[in-house]
Formats: sequence, structure tokens, C-alpha cells
Amino acid sequence: MKFFLDTANIEEIRQSVSLGLVDGITTNPSLVAKEGRDLEEVAKEICDLVDGPVSLEVVSTSAPEIIEEARRLAKIHKNVVVKIPMIREGLKALHVVAQEGIRVNVTLIFSANQALLAAKNGAVIVSPFVGRLDDISSSGMELISDIIQIYNNYQFKTEVLVASIRSPIHVLEAAKIGAHIATLPSKVLEQLLKHPLTDIGLEKFLADWEKQNQLVHS
Ligand code: G3P
Repeated sequence: MKFFLDTANIEEIRQSVSLGLVDGITTNPSLVAKEGRDLEEVAKEICDLVDGPVSLEVVSTSAPEIIEEARRLAKIHKNVVVKIPMIREGLKALHVVAQEGIRVNVTLIFSANQALLAAKNGAVIVSPFVGRLDDISSSGMELISDIIQIYNNYQFKTEVLVASIRSPIHVLEAAKIGAHIATLPSKVLEQLLKHPLTDIGLEKFLADWEKQNQLVHS
């Protein structure tokens, strides 16, 4: 499973990249707006930090404008994957830019049918939002399972990027289903590596070692 970080915060990315576990980055207009900086400037800094796919989202909503914006974003860096929302105009734009070799991550996916259309039109990645479905008592993970089954049925090469992850359980369930990518807040990435019994066990090892060494050297 590939791990992407879901952030546009440079310091957060720098901290997580040092773990050696970050395979890419996803951003969205809300995450970029939170940084209060120019998208292109932030994007270039992110691409210098992470040698993997970096998703940058269009904010246009008509096909001609999405196409123009996608072409502009794709030129920022070779690792840029253009995020296009799963709307009718987005599908039309996807059909055009995919044929030009621009890699597209279709985002704001909330149904398996949406994921099927995105794959048919050439998306290299789809982003189903599991947390936002769970938030309204709908099963986000059931959607992931349905999409994986459909993509396997028709040998689609489109990768399923599980988004809107709220906890380590989402990551665990996504991995058990076989999703290709999970995009995580850095907080969740840190939670993945923690277990209280590991900390307790290490503390005991070191205490025993220290006690024994004091005896030996006393
Ligand atoms: O960036 C896409 C997705 O991960 C956003 O998730 O937390 O805003 O529901 P969230």
C-alpha cells in the first residue's frame, strides 16, 4: 500500500518524509487555502521534498476552464497529478486531458458508479472520501470494497486512493481490502506506528539492562 500525506503544510511534510514512508502528497483547495500561500510556490516546494505523485486540484468548474487549468498545473512539475472533481464538466475535461497524457486524480468520489465513470474516462487515480461517508452513517469502506471489485472485474489500471481518512482503523481496513493508496493526515501516520505494549516492553528491556550493568560494574 502506498502512503500519501494529505496536507499542503511544508513543515508537516518535512517531518513525515524523514520517516521514509511518504510516497506522495494530496492537496485540495481547503488545505492549500489554510497555508495562505501561492499554490504554484507551495507545489514546487512540495515536489522538491517528495519524489512521488503530488495532487493539485483545479478550482474551475466548466470543462474548457478545467482543461486550461489542468494543463497549467501539469506544467508545474513532472510529479504533478491534476485533481478534478467528479462533476459532469470534470468528466468532460478528464476525457480530453487524459488523452494528452496529463495524469488525473478524480476526487470527491462518493459512489462506485462515479468511480466506474472516472476509470472509463482515463483517471489514473480516484479519491473516494471514506470519512465523510462515515460521518453521515454510510459505510466508506463498503464503497472501497465495491470499487476494488469493479476495477478487478474489468482490469482497470486506475488506482484507488482512500481519502478522508480519520483513523488507523481506516488504514487497516483499506489495506485488508487491497486499496492501492491511503492519503493520511500526518497525525494518523504517527498513530500507525504507536503501540503502548511496545513502549512498555522497551522500557522493561532498558531497565533490566541498566540494573544488570550496574551489578556487573559495582
Ligand atoms: O484531501 C482529500 C480528502 O482527504 C479530504 O478529507 O478530511 O477533508 O474529509 P477530509
